Amino acid sequence: PNRVQNRARYDVDGAQARVEAKVAAGARGEFDNTPDTDPDLPGNRAWGREIAERMVESKLGVDLVSSSELTDAESIAKVVETGVAAAEGWQALGADERARILYRAGELLEARRADLLEVMGSECGKTLDQGDPEVSEAIDFANYYAMLGQQLEQVDGARPAHRKLIAVIPPWNFPVAIPAGGVLSGLAAGAAVVIKPAATSARSAAVMVEALWDAGVPRDVLQFVHIASRELGSKLVADPRVDRLILTGAYETAVTFRGLRPDLPILAETSGKNAIIVTPSADLDLAAKDVATSAFGHAGQKCSAASLVILVGSVATSKRFRGQLLDAVKSIKVGTPEHLETQMGTVITAPSGKLLRGLTTLGAGEQWLIKPEPIVVDSPLALDAEGGNRLWSPGVRDNVKRGSEYHKTEYFGPILGIMTAETLDEAIDMVNEIDYGLTSGLHSLDRDELALWLRRIEAGNLYVNRGITGAIVRRQSFGGWKKSAIGAGTKAGGPSYLHGLVDWVDAPVTG
Ligand code: ALA
Repeated sequence: PNRVQNRARYDVDGAQARVEAKVAAGARGEFDNTPDTDPDLPGNRAWGREIAERMVESKLGVDLVSSSELTDAESIAKVVETGVAAAEGWQALGADERARILYRAGELLEARRADLLEVMGSECGKTLDQGDPEVSEAIDFANYYAMLGQQLEQVDGARPAHRKLIAVIPPWNFPVAIPAGGVLSGLAAGAAVVIKPAATSARSAAVMVEALWDAGVPRDVLQFVHIASRELGSKLVADPRVDRLILTGAYETAVTFRGLRPDLPILAETSGKNAIIVTPSADLDLAAKDVATSAFGHAGQKCSAASLVILVGSVATSKRFRGQLLDAVKSIKVGTPEHLETQMGTVITAPSGKLLRGLTTLGAGEQWLIKPEPIVVDSPLALDAEGGNRLWSPGVRDNVKRGSEYHKTEYFGPILGIMTAETLDEAIDMVNEIDYGLTSGLHSLDRDELALWLRRIEAGNLYVNRGITGAIVRRQSFGGWKKSAIGAGTKAGGPSYLHGLVDWVDAPVTG
């Protein structure tokens, strides 16, 4: 199902029938596409306003502590034991029955879209326009992996030897879709799953997991563990009964886990330092818009975000593109996510360390085109748990030098650097010199330039004449090269992902 179908199925207070009537009218060519006139239509202002109010009140009670807080190594061992024991029953259900439950999970995620948007907004600063496609992505994962789980049984000449226990360790920044992708893939591949959510967005993951439990995934087959301590998280991964690790996080974290368990197959999405190249043949209006949204959507806190724009030839030497880019960035409305006009929300915690350096310190020869500033507003969502200010305006630094710290470092926040190159080849060299290779973009209307870029660029997800975030399950499977990935080389949301989660044995000869 695509996003349009997902949206049309949303049901709140009887809105479903009216939505269907609108869709049917649309199919007959009678639909005046003005969503604001129908207060119940998904995505409209009244619907959004209600969710926004709930974000501030933060009414949603998710009891993380009583059911799942783990305090010692013994409790981790117990979780592992429970999962391993539960795997047999889950496997015995068979692929079709597992798929039925996972399709139902997709329906429940849809029905709880508002709850998910609320908790993502209050916890992580997700604006509704960022959170809404994220919920759709989680639903797409449910449907797609359910189907792939059924197909797994049909590979000619081999059958999957199901693994028993998969650990899923997601990041905080896509607090619903990435945990959902990991958990649903493991379940579809016939394993029991233990998810250890990121501490800063554990409630969002919990709302997602509850939907899966309510859909019929047994609680011992899918265990949610809220482990506050790093040491205990490592103990989970280090347990030899864990068969696979699905990890999204920093490259260094993946390396640490690999050191702990060299024998453990890891499917890891790691860091990114992504660039969009703009050549003189580009549609510059479109390029400026796409660079701004790729850099500053979710305040730049995406592994896929654009952190660099590399201007080639006359785009670098003329003032025109820089002017358009500045206009685009200055027009971004910064605020807290309960205000529906907000286009760029908060950072997860008041910046410290590397991000603060990126927001405040220039390298040699660099200058600010737009200097990022902390913004103080009267909203509980502007503050982190320690009371630190989470709201910053976007920053653009010019004249970033090849080989400098900014060229090579991921900052994970609302900051964009401009580099310049004389030729497309030189710009590609600048991208390929970066250790990471997750997403990459080209804005060019010249077919020869496109062919050159496609041949040479080193990155897992390539985007031409569009933004570089927002991969879509099944259509753009997601995964990186170089230090942006560790593991089996299978991409999330792609046809071979589940193959990395099972072993294969020859099928018995029949007939
Ligand atoms: N899958 C996310 C994106 O493509 C990270 O932006």
